[in-house]
Amino acid sequence: MAIFNKKREAAPQNIPTHIAIIMDGNGRWAKKRGLPRQAGHKVGAEAFRTIANYAKSIGLQYLTVYAFSTENWKRSEEEVNAIMELLENYLREAIRDMDKNRVRFCFFGDLTRLSPALQAEAAEAVERSRQYEGVQVNFCLNYGGRDEILRAARAFAASCAAGEAKPEELTEERFSQLLWSAGVPDPDLVIRPSGEERISNFLLWQSAYAEYYFTDTLWPDFGPRDLDLAIEAYNKRSRRFGGAK
Ligand code: FPP
Repeated sequence: MAIFNKKREAAPQNIPTHIAIIMDGNGRWAKKRGLPRQAGHKVGAEAFRTIANYAKSIGLQYLTVYAFSTENWKRSEEEVNAIMELLENYLREAIRDMDKNRVRFCFFGDLTRLSPALQAEAAEAVERSRQYEGVQVNFCLNYGGRDEILRAARAFAASCAAGEAKPEELTEERFSQLLWSAGVPDPDLVIRPSGEERISNFLLWQSAYAEYYFTDTLWPDFGPRDLDLAIEAYNKRSRRFGGAK
């Protein structure tokens, strides 16, 4: 705990409401050390734990992480299984320690493709953490931005076909309520570590006015100091949301 208190003193003053992170670079981190990719994901999961605790300590309200995309199924069965096992272990522990950590859990993505055990843990985590105030962690699991938008479009089209809505009634606000992220404010800051500078189907609708921050640090090495640097960079930006300078 001491480390968080110490860090907190040095932490940036203006904390954005919602930070989203693409946890990238686990594979390269492992390769550099001659280890299997799974080893990178394991350390990546630890990095997530540390960042989630730190985010809570600095008063962040929403932390969204890209844990598994709709495209990640193309990876080897071994790697997919390893990531799923890490998620299961993480959720099991999170449920066990829930009253101590008091983090609200939410999931973006179609969880029906996940194992019944993982689905059950995710449902339990959401249900039992609903009451907590403070940070909410949104896990993007089997998530894709285009897939999310398509589902919302289909849902609205179905309401129209059923005579419950009219096309001209669709507004940005109403459309947002059909996304996995319904009720969650848009991200202010999207962080991508590992030197890649692309968005990879992450929060496409929600990031319309987000600030992006890229760093060469690989996700398993990403720690509280890196989050501070990202927040400091964010605080230097001038957000205009399309308005004049
Ligand atoms: C991207 O790095 C990372 C992933 C596809 C998986 C992220 C999963 C975790 C960090 C573990 C999940 C567990 C918890 C508890 C959140 P990459 O493999 O694409 O890296 P590379 O680009 O270097 O190959």
